Amino acid sequence: MIQPAMILVADDDAVARELLAEALRKEGHHVEAFSSGEAIIARGRQGLVDLVLTDIRMGAVDGLTVLREFKRTNPNTVVVVLTAFGSLEGAIEAIKQGAYDYLAKPFKKEDIKLVVKRGLDHCRLLRENARFRQELKSKEEWPSLVGSSPAMLEVYKLVARVANGRSTVLLQGESGTGKELIARAIHTNGPRRDKPFIPVNCGALPDTLLESEMFGYEKGAFTGAVGTKMGLFESANEGTLFLDEIGELGQGLQVKLLRVMQDQEVRRVGGTTSTRVDVRIIAATNRDLEQLVKEGKFRNDLFYRLKVVPITLPSLAERREDIPMLVHHFLQKCAAGTEHAVCGVLPETMALLTDYRWPGNVRELENVIERAVSLSHGPVLTPEDLPKVIRQGALTETETRYPLTNPHDEVSLTLEEVEKRHLIRVLKETNRNKVKAAKILGIDRRTLYRMAERFGLDLGEEAEGTEEKEPT
Ligand SMILES: Nc1ncnc2c1ncn2[C@@H]1O[C@H](COP(=O)(O)OP(=O)(O)OP(=O)(O)O)[C@@H](O)[C@H]1O
Ligand SMILES: [Mg+2]
Repeated sequence: MIQPAMILVADDDAVARELLAEALRKEGHHVEAFSSGEAIIARGRQGLVDLVLTDIRMGAVDGLTVLREFKRTNPNTVVVVLTAFGSLEGAIEAIKQGAYDYLAKPFKKEDIKLVVKRGLDHCRLLRENARFRQELKSKEEWPSLVGSSPAMLEVYKLVARVANGRSTVLLQGESGTGKELIARAIHTNGPRRDKPFIPVNCGALPDTLLESEMFGYEKGAFTGAVGTKMGLFESANEGTLFLDEIGELGQGLQVKLLRVMQDQEVRRVGGTTSTRVDVRIIAATNRDLEQLVKEGKFRNDLFYRLKVVPITLPSLAERREDIPMLVHHFLQKCAAGTEHAVCGVLPETMALLTDYRWPGNVRELENVIERAVSLSHGPVLTPEDLPKVIRQGALTETETRYPLTNPHDEVSLTLEEVEKRHLIRVLKETNRNKVKAAKILGIDRRTLYRMAERFGLDLGEEAEGTEEKEPT
Protein backbone atom coordinates (compact mmCIF):
# COMPACT_ATOMS: atom_id res chain seq x y z
CA MET A 1 0.00 0.00 0.00
CA ILE A 2 1.35 3.36 -1.04
CA GLN A 3 0.77 6.34 1.18
CA PRO A 4 -0.40 9.21 -1.02
CA ALA A 5 1.99 12.15 -1.00
CA MET A 6 1.89 15.73 -2.26
CA ILE A 7 4.31 15.96 -5.17
CA LEU A 8 5.14 18.97 -7.34
CA VAL A 9 6.63 18.61 -10.81
CA ALA A 10 8.31 21.42 -12.76
CA ASP A 11 9.53 21.08 -16.34
CA ASP A 12 9.23 23.43 -19.31
CA ASP A 13 8.98 20.38 -21.55
CA ALA A 14 5.27 19.53 -21.58
CA VAL A 15 5.78 15.91 -22.65
CA ALA A 16 8.21 15.06 -19.86
CA ARG A 17 6.07 16.94 -17.35
CA GLU A 18 2.87 15.13 -18.20
CA LEU A 19 4.57 11.76 -18.36
CA LEU A 20 5.92 12.15 -14.85
CA ALA A 21 2.71 13.57 -13.45
CA GLU A 22 0.69 10.78 -14.99
CA ALA A 23 2.99 8.03 -13.71
CA LEU A 24 2.88 9.41 -10.17
CA ARG A 25 -0.89 9.92 -10.18
CA LYS A 26 -1.25 6.29 -11.16
CA GLU A 27 0.75 5.46 -8.02
CA GLY A 28 -1.91 7.24 -6.03
CA HIS A 29 -0.11 10.52 -5.29
CA HIS A 30 -1.46 14.05 -5.52
CA VAL A 31 0.51 15.74 -8.27
CA GLU A 32 0.61 19.38 -9.34
CA ALA A 33 2.57 20.23 -12.50
CA PHE A 34 4.23 23.56 -13.36
CA SER A 35 5.95 24.82 -16.48
CA SER A 36 8.38 27.22 -14.82
CA GLY A 37 10.62 27.68 -11.80
CA GLU A 38 8.72 30.82 -10.75
CA ALA A 39 5.43 28.94 -10.63
CA ILE A 40 6.65 26.03 -8.54
CA ILE A 41 8.42 28.34 -6.08
CA ALA A 42 5.22 30.33 -5.66
CA ARG A 43 3.33 27.11 -4.93
CA GLY A 44 6.02 26.04 -2.47
CA ARG A 45 5.34 29.08 -0.32
CA GLN A 46 1.91 27.66 0.51
CA GLY A 47 3.70 24.76 2.19
CA LEU A 48 2.69 21.13 2.67
CA VAL A 49 4.84 19.57 -0.03
CA ASP A 50 6.49 16.17 0.39
CA LEU A 51 8.52 15.96 -2.75
CA VAL A 52 9.57 18.17 -5.67
CA LEU A 53 10.74 16.95 -9.05
CA THR A 54 12.31 19.80 -10.97
CA ASP A 55 14.06 20.01 -14.30
CA ILE A 56 17.49 21.60 -14.02
CA ARG A 57 17.46 23.61 -17.22
CA MET A 58 14.37 25.78 -17.44
CA GLY A 59 13.72 29.37 -18.60
CA ALA A 60 14.59 32.26 -16.32
CA VAL A 61 14.52 30.42 -12.98
CA ASP A 62 16.39 27.14 -13.22
CA GLY A 63 16.24 23.95 -11.15
CA LEU A 64 19.12 24.88 -8.87
CA THR A 65 17.29 28.05 -7.88
CA VAL A 66 14.15 26.01 -7.21
CA LEU A 67 16.25 23.66 -5.09
CA ARG A 68 17.82 26.45 -3.05
CA GLU A 69 14.48 28.14 -2.54
CA PHE A 70 12.85 24.93 -1.26
CA LYS A 71 15.81 24.15 1.01
CA ARG A 72 15.34 27.57 2.54
CA THR A 73 11.58 27.70 2.90
CA ASN A 74 10.55 24.03 3.06
CA PRO A 75 13.51 22.21 4.67
CA ASN A 76 11.51 19.00 5.09
CA THR A 77 10.60 18.76 1.40
CA VAL A 78 12.73 16.35 -0.59
CA VAL A 79 13.97 17.68 -3.95
CA VAL A 80 14.83 15.43 -6.88
CA VAL A 81 16.27 17.01 -10.03
CA LEU A 82 15.59 15.95 -13.61
CA THR A 83 18.48 15.94 -16.03
CA ALA A 84 18.75 15.64 -19.76
CA PHE A 85 20.30 12.47 -21.07
CA GLY A 86 24.07 12.49 -20.69
CA SER A 87 24.36 15.69 -18.64
CA LEU A 88 25.28 14.48 -15.20
CA GLU A 89 27.21 17.58 -14.20
CA GLY A 90 24.11 19.56 -13.32
CA ALA A 91 22.87 16.62 -11.28
CA ILE A 92 26.08 16.37 -9.29
CA GLU A 93 26.04 20.08 -8.55
CA ALA A 94 22.41 19.78 -7.43
CA ILE A 95 23.21 16.88 -5.09
CA LYS A 96 26.06 18.88 -3.61
CA GLN A 97 23.59 21.64 -2.91
CA GLY A 98 21.20 19.31 -1.13
CA ALA A 99 19.09 17.60 -3.79
CA TYR A 100 18.15 14.14 -2.59
CA ASP A 101 18.61 12.37 -5.93
CA TYR A 102 18.29 12.85 -9.70
CA LEU A 103 16.35 11.22 -12.51
CA ALA A 104 17.85 11.06 -16.00
CA LYS A 105 15.77 11.48 -19.15
CA PRO A 106 14.33 9.58 -20.87
CA PHE A 107 12.53 8.35 -17.76
CA LYS A 108 11.93 4.70 -17.08
CA LYS A 109 8.77 3.99 -15.13
CA GLU A 110 10.66 1.75 -12.72
CA ASP A 111 13.25 4.44 -11.99
CA ILE A 112 10.59 7.04 -11.34
CA LYS A 113 8.84 4.74 -8.89
CA LEU A 114 12.02 3.79 -7.08
CA VAL A 115 13.46 7.29 -6.74
CA VAL A 116 10.14 8.73 -5.61
CA LYS A 117 9.62 5.94 -3.09
CA ARG A 118 13.07 6.45 -1.60
CA GLY A 119 12.61 10.20 -1.62
CA LEU A 120 9.33 9.91 0.25
CA ASP A 121 10.89 7.57 2.81
CA HIS A 122 13.56 10.16 3.34
CA CYS A 123 10.95 12.86 3.67
CA ARG A 124 9.23 10.90 6.42
CA LEU A 125 12.54 10.62 8.24
CA LEU A 126 13.11 14.35 8.02
CA ARG A 127 9.65 14.99 9.42
CA GLU A 128 10.08 12.44 12.20
CA ASN A 129 13.36 14.02 13.13
CA ALA A 130 11.84 17.48 13.26
CA ARG A 131 9.07 16.14 15.46
CA PHE A 132 11.48 14.48 17.86
CA ARG A 133 13.44 17.70 18.11
CA GLN A 134 10.23 19.48 19.01
CA GLU A 135 9.39 16.89 21.65
CA LEU A 136 12.85 17.15 23.15
CA LYS A 137 12.55 20.91 23.31
CA SER A 138 9.42 20.72 25.38
CA LYS A 139 11.37 18.73 27.97
CA GLU A 140 13.83 21.56 28.45
CA GLU A 141 13.80 21.28 32.25
CA TRP A 142 15.40 17.81 32.05
CA PRO A 143 17.31 18.28 28.85
CA SER A 144 19.24 15.05 28.78
CA LEU A 145 16.57 12.63 29.94
CA VAL A 146 14.94 10.91 27.01
CA GLY A 147 12.02 8.55 27.12
CA SER A 148 8.27 8.77 27.57
CA SER A 149 7.38 5.14 28.18
CA PRO A 150 5.08 4.42 31.12
CA ALA A 151 8.05 2.93 33.00
CA MET A 152 10.09 6.13 32.58
CA LEU A 153 7.13 8.35 33.41
CA GLU A 154 6.92 6.51 36.74
CA VAL A 155 10.59 7.30 37.32
CA TYR A 156 10.11 10.99 36.43
CA LYS A 157 7.19 11.17 38.83
CA LEU A 158 9.31 9.79 41.66
CA VAL A 159 12.16 12.15 40.79
CA ALA A 160 9.82 15.11 40.87
CA ARG A 161 8.37 13.97 44.18
CA VAL A 162 11.70 13.50 45.98
CA ALA A 163 13.73 16.31 44.41
CA ASN A 164 12.58 18.93 46.89
CA GLY A 165 13.28 16.92 50.02
CA ARG A 166 16.47 15.57 51.45
CA SER A 167 15.61 11.93 51.97
CA THR A 168 18.14 9.36 50.89
CA VAL A 169 17.48 7.80 47.49
CA LEU A 170 18.63 4.37 46.37
CA LEU A 171 18.81 3.95 42.60
CA GLN A 172 18.81 0.39 41.38
CA GLY A 173 18.99 -0.88 37.85
CA GLU A 174 21.16 -2.72 35.37
CA SER A 175 24.35 -1.19 34.10
CA GLY A 176 23.80 1.65 31.65
CA THR A 177 20.17 2.35 32.54
CA GLY A 178 20.87 5.96 33.51
CA LYS A 179 21.30 5.85 37.27
CA GLU A 180 23.84 8.66 37.34
CA LEU A 181 21.69 10.73 35.01
CA ILE A 182 18.71 10.34 37.35
CA ALA A 183 20.86 11.17 40.37
CA ARG A 184 21.86 14.42 38.67
CA ALA A 185 18.25 15.11 37.72
CA ILE A 186 17.21 14.77 41.37
CA HIS A 187 19.96 17.16 42.39
CA THR A 188 19.32 19.80 39.72
CA ASN A 189 15.58 19.77 40.23
CA GLY A 190 15.82 20.42 43.95
CA PRO A 191 16.81 23.34 46.20
CA ARG A 192 20.44 22.16 46.29
CA ARG A 193 20.93 22.75 42.57
CA ASP A 194 23.41 25.59 43.09
CA LYS A 195 25.49 23.56 45.55
CA PRO A 196 27.94 20.80 44.67
CA PHE A 197 26.94 17.41 43.26
CA ILE A 198 29.83 15.09 44.03
CA PRO A 199 30.00 11.58 42.63
CA VAL A 200 32.09 8.95 44.42
CA ASN A 201 32.71 5.57 42.89
CA CYS A 202 32.78 3.18 45.85
CA GLY A 203 34.22 0.38 43.75
CA ALA A 204 37.16 2.29 42.33
CA LEU A 205 39.42 2.56 45.38
CA PRO A 206 40.67 0.25 48.12
CA ASP A 207 38.81 0.90 51.36
CA THR A 208 41.57 2.76 53.21
CA LEU A 209 41.99 5.23 50.38
CA LEU A 210 38.27 5.59 49.93
CA GLU A 211 37.90 6.31 53.62
CA SER A 212 40.32 9.22 53.55
CA GLU A 213 38.73 10.44 50.33
CA MET A 214 35.27 10.43 51.85
CA PHE A 215 36.06 11.71 55.31
CA GLY A 216 39.36 13.55 54.85
CA TYR A 217 42.36 13.28 57.16
CA GLU A 218 44.46 15.26 59.59
CA LYS A 219 48.17 15.86 59.20
CA GLY A 220 50.14 12.81 60.37
CA ALA A 221 47.10 10.51 60.45
CA PHE A 222 49.13 7.97 58.49
CA THR A 223 52.43 7.85 56.65
CA GLY A 224 52.11 10.22 53.75
CA ALA A 225 49.48 12.42 55.35
CA VAL A 226 51.73 15.48 55.15
CA GLY A 227 48.90 17.97 55.29
CA THR A 228 45.28 18.19 56.28
CA LYS A 229 42.68 17.19 53.73
CA MET A 230 38.99 17.90 53.56
CA GLY A 231 36.85 14.88 52.68
CA LEU A 232 34.16 14.64 50.03
CA PHE A 233 31.43 14.78 52.66
CA GLU A 234 32.64 18.20 53.71
CA SER A 235 33.07 19.31 50.11
CA ALA A 236 29.51 18.26 49.35
CA ASN A 237 28.15 20.26 52.28
CA GLU A 238 24.67 21.65 51.47
CA GLY A 239 24.81 19.68 48.24
CA THR A 240 24.51 16.06 47.16
CA LEU A 241 26.92 13.16 47.49
CA PHE A 242 26.36 10.47 44.89
CA LEU A 243 27.64 7.13 46.18
CA ASP A 244 27.91 5.09 43.01
CA GLU A 245 28.36 1.29 43.12
CA ILE A 246 27.45 1.28 46.79
CA GLY A 247 27.35 -2.53 46.73
CA GLU A 248 31.15 -2.56 46.47
CA LEU A 249 31.64 -0.76 49.79
CA GLY A 250 33.71 -2.79 52.26
CA GLN A 251 32.31 -3.84 55.65
CA GLY A 252 34.40 -1.39 57.69
CA LEU A 253 33.33 1.57 55.61
CA GLN A 254 29.72 0.45 55.72
CA VAL A 255 29.76 0.96 59.50
CA LYS A 256 31.41 4.35 59.17
CA LEU A 257 28.99 5.52 56.50
CA LEU A 258 26.04 4.43 58.59
CA ARG A 259 27.35 6.45 61.54
CA VAL A 260 27.84 9.58 59.44
CA MET A 261 24.33 9.26 58.08
CA GLN A 262 22.87 8.88 61.55
CA ASP A 263 24.85 11.65 63.22
CA GLN A 264 25.16 13.97 60.24
CA GLU A 265 28.70 14.72 61.22
CA VAL A 266 32.06 13.54 59.98
CA ARG A 267 35.36 13.07 61.68
CA ARG A 268 38.50 13.15 59.59
CA VAL A 269 40.88 10.21 59.76
CA GLY A 270 43.24 10.91 62.64
CA GLY A 271 41.04 13.75 63.83
CA THR A 272 39.64 14.30 67.29
CA THR A 273 36.66 16.51 66.57
CA SER A 274 33.63 16.12 64.33
CA THR A 275 32.18 18.59 61.86
CA ARG A 276 28.47 18.88 61.11
CA VAL A 277 27.57 18.27 57.50
CA ASP A 278 24.33 18.73 55.63
CA VAL A 279 24.59 16.35 52.73
CA ARG A 280 21.92 14.64 50.74
CA ILE A 281 22.90 11.11 49.84
CA ILE A 282 21.92 9.38 46.64
CA ALA A 283 23.31 5.87 46.26
CA ALA A 284 23.29 3.64 43.21
CA THR A 285 24.01 0.04 42.43
CA ASN A 286 23.54 -2.46 39.64
CA ARG A 287 23.78 -5.32 42.12
CA ASP A 288 21.00 -6.93 44.04
CA LEU A 289 21.58 -5.34 47.46
CA GLU A 290 18.92 -7.44 49.11
CA GLN A 291 20.76 -10.55 47.99
CA LEU A 292 24.05 -9.11 49.30
CA VAL A 293 22.33 -8.55 52.64
CA LYS A 294 21.17 -12.17 52.67
CA GLU A 295 24.68 -13.32 51.92
CA GLY A 296 25.95 -11.20 54.80
CA LYS A 297 28.03 -8.98 52.53
CA PHE A 298 26.02 -5.84 53.04
CA ARG A 299 24.76 -4.53 56.36
CA ASN A 300 21.05 -4.73 56.82
CA ASP A 301 20.85 -1.50 58.83
CA LEU A 302 22.72 0.45 56.17
CA PHE A 303 20.53 -1.04 53.45
CA TYR A 304 17.41 0.27 55.24
CA ARG A 305 18.97 3.68 55.77
CA LEU A 306 19.77 3.93 52.09
CA LYS A 307 16.54 2.74 50.62
CA VAL A 308 14.27 5.34 52.16
CA VAL A 309 13.18 6.13 48.62
CA PRO A 310 14.05 3.26 46.29
CA ILE A 311 13.86 3.95 42.56
CA THR A 312 14.37 1.09 40.15
CA LEU A 313 15.27 2.04 36.61
CA PRO A 314 13.76 -0.08 33.85
CA SER A 315 16.10 -1.89 31.50
CA LEU A 316 15.98 -0.73 27.90
CA ALA A 317 14.31 -3.97 26.86
CA GLU A 318 11.47 -3.09 29.22
CA ARG A 319 10.88 0.20 27.43
CA ARG A 320 11.50 -0.52 23.77
CA GLU A 321 9.05 2.18 22.75
CA ASP A 322 11.65 4.74 23.85
CA ILE A 323 14.31 3.39 21.50
CA PRO A 324 13.40 5.52 18.45
CA MET A 325 13.47 8.69 20.51
CA LEU A 326 16.78 7.73 22.10
CA VAL A 327 18.23 6.95 18.67
CA HIS A 328 17.30 10.41 17.42
CA HIS A 329 18.63 11.96 20.59
CA PHE A 330 22.02 10.29 20.12
CA LEU A 331 22.08 11.14 16.41
CA GLN A 332 21.68 14.78 17.34
CA LYS A 333 24.33 14.48 19.99
CA CYS A 334 26.73 13.04 17.39
CA ALA A 335 25.77 15.67 14.83
CA ALA A 336 26.89 18.50 17.07
CA GLY A 337 30.37 19.42 16.00
CA THR A 338 30.77 17.25 12.89
CA GLU A 339 30.29 18.13 9.26
CA HIS A 340 29.11 14.62 8.39
CA ALA A 341 25.71 14.68 10.03
CA VAL A 342 23.43 11.67 9.96
CA CYS A 343 19.85 12.83 10.20
CA GLY A 344 17.89 9.60 10.43
CA VAL A 345 17.75 5.84 10.13
CA LEU A 346 16.05 3.60 7.60
CA PRO A 347 12.88 1.91 8.86
CA GLU A 348 14.59 -1.50 8.65
CA THR A 349 17.52 -0.18 10.70
CA MET A 350 15.12 1.08 13.34
CA ALA A 351 13.38 -2.30 13.38
CA LEU A 352 16.69 -4.03 14.13
CA LEU A 353 17.46 -1.51 16.87
CA THR A 354 14.10 -1.94 18.56
CA ASP A 355 14.28 -5.73 18.35
CA TYR A 356 17.71 -6.14 19.90
CA ARG A 357 18.08 -7.26 23.52
CA TRP A 358 20.37 -4.42 24.71
CA PRO A 359 22.17 -6.10 27.62
CA GLY A 360 24.21 -2.90 28.07
CA ASN A 361 21.06 -0.76 28.00
CA VAL A 362 21.15 2.93 27.05
CA ARG A 363 24.93 3.13 27.22
CA GLU A 364 25.23 0.33 24.67
CA LEU A 365 22.69 2.01 22.41
CA GLU A 366 24.61 5.26 22.63
CA ASN A 367 27.86 3.50 21.68
CA VAL A 368 26.22 1.66 18.79
CA ILE A 369 24.82 4.89 17.33
CA GLU A 370 28.13 6.67 17.75
CA ARG A 371 29.95 3.90 15.95
CA ALA A 372 27.33 3.66 13.21
CA VAL A 373 27.53 7.39 12.55
CA SER A 374 31.29 7.24 12.19
CA LEU A 375 31.00 4.29 9.78
CA SER A 376 28.11 5.52 7.68
CA HIS A 377 28.55 7.16 4.32
CA GLY A 378 25.12 8.60 3.80
CA PRO A 379 22.64 10.86 5.56
CA VAL A 380 20.75 7.89 7.03
CA LEU A 381 21.91 4.81 8.92
CA THR A 382 21.45 1.55 7.06
CA PRO A 383 21.44 -1.93 8.62
CA GLU A 384 25.02 -2.35 7.36
CA ASP A 385 26.14 0.39 9.73
CA LEU A 386 25.11 -1.70 12.74
CA PRO A 387 27.28 -4.29 14.51
CA LYS A 388 26.87 -7.90 13.50
CA VAL A 389 25.08 -9.04 16.66
CA ILE A 390 22.30 -6.59 16.03
CA ARG A 391 22.01 -7.31 12.31
CA GLN A 392 21.95 -11.02 12.95
CA GLY A 393 18.87 -10.55 15.05
CA ALA A 394 16.77 -10.30 11.91
CA LEU A 395 18.05 -13.50 10.35
CA THR A 396 17.80 -15.53 13.55
CA GLU A 397 14.33 -14.26 14.15
CA THR A 398 13.18 -15.18 10.67
CA GLU A 399 14.58 -18.63 11.31
CA THR A 400 12.56 -19.08 14.47
CA ARG A 401 9.49 -17.87 12.71
CA TYR A 402 10.20 -20.23 9.83
CA PRO A 403 11.83 -23.26 11.43
CA LEU A 404 13.45 -25.59 8.96
CA THR A 405 13.18 -28.71 11.03
CA ASN A 406 9.96 -30.48 10.18
CA PRO A 407 9.93 -31.60 6.53
CA HIS A 408 6.25 -32.61 6.69
CA ASP A 409 5.27 -29.03 7.27
CA GLU A 410 6.88 -28.03 4.03
CA VAL A 411 4.13 -29.76 2.07
CA SER A 412 1.72 -27.05 3.08
CA LEU A 413 4.04 -24.17 2.19
CA THR A 414 3.61 -21.80 -0.72
CA LEU A 415 6.39 -21.68 -3.27
CA GLU A 416 7.27 -18.24 -2.02
CA GLU A 417 7.82 -19.55 1.53
CA VAL A 418 9.89 -22.47 0.30
CA GLU A 419 12.00 -20.02 -1.66
CA LYS A 420 12.48 -17.84 1.37
CA ARG A 421 13.44 -20.74 3.65
CA HIS A 422 15.86 -22.08 1.12
CA LEU A 423 17.46 -18.70 0.68
CA ILE A 424 17.89 -18.35 4.45
CA ARG A 425 19.37 -21.83 4.66
CA VAL A 426 21.88 -21.18 1.91
CA LEU A 427 22.87 -17.81 3.34
CA LYS A 428 23.49 -19.48 6.66
CA GLU A 429 25.51 -22.29 5.12
CA THR A 430 27.69 -19.86 3.21
CA ASN A 431 28.06 -17.55 6.18
CA ARG A 432 26.28 -14.96 4.06
CA ASN A 433 28.91 -14.96 1.35
CA LYS A 434 26.89 -13.48 -1.49
CA VAL A 435 29.03 -14.88 -4.30
CA LYS A 436 28.91 -18.43 -2.95
CA ALA A 437 25.22 -18.20 -2.12
CA ALA A 438 24.37 -16.95 -5.61
CA LYS A 439 26.41 -19.74 -7.15
CA ILE A 440 24.65 -22.44 -5.12
CA LEU A 441 21.26 -20.99 -5.96
CA GLY A 442 22.14 -20.68 -9.63
CA ILE A 443 21.26 -17.02 -9.83
CA ASP A 444 23.34 -13.89 -10.30
CA ARG A 445 24.16 -11.59 -7.47
CA ARG A 446 21.70 -8.92 -8.47
CA THR A 447 18.88 -11.45 -8.34
CA LEU A 448 20.11 -12.51 -4.92
CA TYR A 449 19.93 -8.92 -3.71
CA ARG A 450 16.45 -8.54 -5.14
CA MET A 451 15.25 -11.74 -3.48
CA ALA A 452 16.74 -10.74 -0.16
CA GLU A 453 15.06 -7.38 -0.41
CA ARG A 454 11.74 -8.97 -1.31
CA PHE A 455 11.91 -11.22 1.75
CA GLY A 456 13.17 -8.43 3.99
CA LEU A 457 16.46 -10.19 4.73
CA ASP A 458 19.61 -8.36 5.62
CA LEU A 459 22.54 -9.62 3.60
CA GLY A 460 25.14 -8.02 5.83
CA GLU A 461 28.65 -7.17 4.76
CA GLU A 462 30.76 -9.95 6.29
CA ALA A 463 31.87 -11.74 3.20
CA GLU A 464 32.49 -8.59 1.16
CA GLY A 465 36.23 -8.83 1.55
CA THR A 466 36.41 -12.38 0.30
CA GLU A 467 34.23 -11.77 -2.72
CA GLU A 468 35.72 -12.81 -5.98
CA LYS A 469 35.35 -10.47 -8.91
CA GLU A 470 32.40 -11.29 -11.08
CA PRO A 471 33.29 -12.11 -14.66
CA THR A 472 32.45 -9.11 -16.79
N1 LIG B 1 16.96 8.28 29.70
C1 LIG B 1 18.12 8.59 29.10
N2 LIG B 1 18.14 9.56 28.17
C2 LIG B 1 19.28 9.90 27.57
N3 LIG B 1 20.46 9.34 27.81
C3 LIG B 1 20.52 8.37 28.73
C4 LIG B 1 19.34 7.94 29.43
N4 LIG B 1 19.69 6.97 30.28
C5 LIG B 1 21.01 6.80 30.13
N5 LIG B 1 21.52 7.64 29.23
C6 LIG B 1 22.93 7.72 28.78
O1 LIG B 1 23.49 6.42 28.86
C7 LIG B 1 24.79 6.45 29.43
C8 LIG B 1 24.80 5.62 30.68
O2 LIG B 1 24.05 6.24 31.70
P1 LIG B 1 24.51 6.24 33.23
O3 LIG B 1 25.98 6.42 33.33
O4 LIG B 1 23.63 7.19 33.97
O5 LIG B 1 24.13 4.72 33.58
P2 LIG B 1 24.34 3.92 34.93
O6 LIG B 1 23.03 3.30 35.22
O7 LIG B 1 24.95 4.82 35.93
O8 LIG B 1 25.33 2.79 34.46
P3 LIG B 1 26.42 1.95 35.38
O9 LIG B 1 25.62 1.09 36.30
O10 LIG B 1 27.16 1.16 34.35
O11 LIG B 1 27.24 2.97 36.07
C9 LIG B 1 25.12 7.90 29.68
O12 LIG B 1 25.89 8.41 28.61
C10 LIG B 1 23.77 8.57 29.73
O13 LIG B 1 23.87 9.90 29.29
MG1 LIG C 1 26.88 4.76 36.74
